[in-house]
Amino acid sequence: MSQSAEGTSATTMPMTLAPIAERYQIDRRIGQGGSAVVYRCRDLHTGQIVALKMLRTNHPLVPASRQRFQREARLASMLGHPNIVRILDFGSTDPPSSDEWGGWFFDAEQPVEFLCMEYIHGPTLKQFVRRTGACPLPWVLTIIDQLAAALASAHSLGIIHRDVKPQNVLLLDLESHTMPKLADFGIAREIAGNSLTSLTQTGQVLGTPDYLSPEQVLGESGGKQSDVYALGIVFFELLTGQLPFDAETPLAAASRRMFVDPPVPSDLAPYIPPSIDEVVLRALRREPRDRLRSANELRDALTWAAAHEGIEMNDCWSEVSDLPLPPPSE
Ligand SMILES: Nc1ncnc2c1ncn2[C@@H]1O[C@H](COP(=O)(O)OP(=O)(O)OP(=O)(O)O)[C@@H](O)[C@H]1O
Ligand SMILES: [Mg+2]
Repeated sequence: MSQSAEGTSATTMPMTLAPIAERYQIDRRIGQGGSAVVYRCRDLHTGQIVALKMLRTNHPLVPASRQRFQREARLASMLGHPNIVRILDFGSTDPPSSDEWGGWFFDAEQPVEFLCMEYIHGPTLKQFVRRTGACPLPWVLTIIDQLAAALASAHSLGIIHRDVKPQNVLLLDLESHTMPKLADFGIAREIAGNSLTSLTQTGQVLGTPDYLSPEQVLGESGGKQSDVYALGIVFFELLTGQLPFDAETPLAAASRRMFVDPPVPSDLAPYIPPSIDEVVLRALRREPRDRLRSANELRDALTWAAAHEGIEMNDCWSEVSDLPLPPPSE
């Protein structure tokens, strides 16, 4: 029996607050996306604070994707990189036992797939850029370089992210600086399945199409150059505070990407040097064969442009330390 959004059948759920998978004690809900709910938990085995992502079971597209979720979780757990959110555990368990924890996201009768990750104390990059608008150039270059390094490391193992977007980048709030951590490798889009289907059938429910490459909009699952494209959009957004393609609806903006070239970033933010414009535009070429071929190629182009402009990529934390960081995700 499904739990309704109003939670009318919540009383049929056991009201004990048993730890998830006999191990993770929920502390609070920290967020939710189209396909999953994320909780801050204490791992009773290690005492560590962790983030537990639980796949919704009351979504029409989710049941078919359980095996994929497990497969992708196994792959993603192979990744070990300082700029990738570490996966600590995954499996299948009973749904959370109280409505307080969002019981309406889960069917009381079905097991729930979960993913346990390192907990990142800090906002998402999307929350950050929404607050600050265009970010300082050296900081942007450093963040993009680190995210490209994360992608290159995954690509070298044959793992494609497929859903690079600032909502999937968490900014670890260290005292002297922030450090980007990429989350949700291969998982979100696999759940959505064919991206055009997920766009047209469910609109925004399964996540934003704002960062999808033209080939993904056409329904291809996407390769490493699709990740490069999505990172190119993030690059553009951090530099200018705006998305390169705007339209009345996300779907219209997605289809514009197939026919229209992006604006030149320095047309929107004149202090951006031409060599940086060039890197962004090479990442955003419509045809994958014309695009920067890999995340490493993006890094090389970035390093060259930064050296050419005399920008020190690693010496910029002081510039952002005064920017208002929004509080960690709610
Ligand atoms: N490891 C983590 N540590 C701390 N907070 C996290 C972690 N992972 C996710 N979150 C929080 O949970 C929120 C929801 O994450 P989720 O991946 O479910 O949604 P999304 O990426 O916004 O959308 P979708 O994945 O459905 O496209 C994030 O925006 C973030 O605030
Ligand atoms: Mg996510």
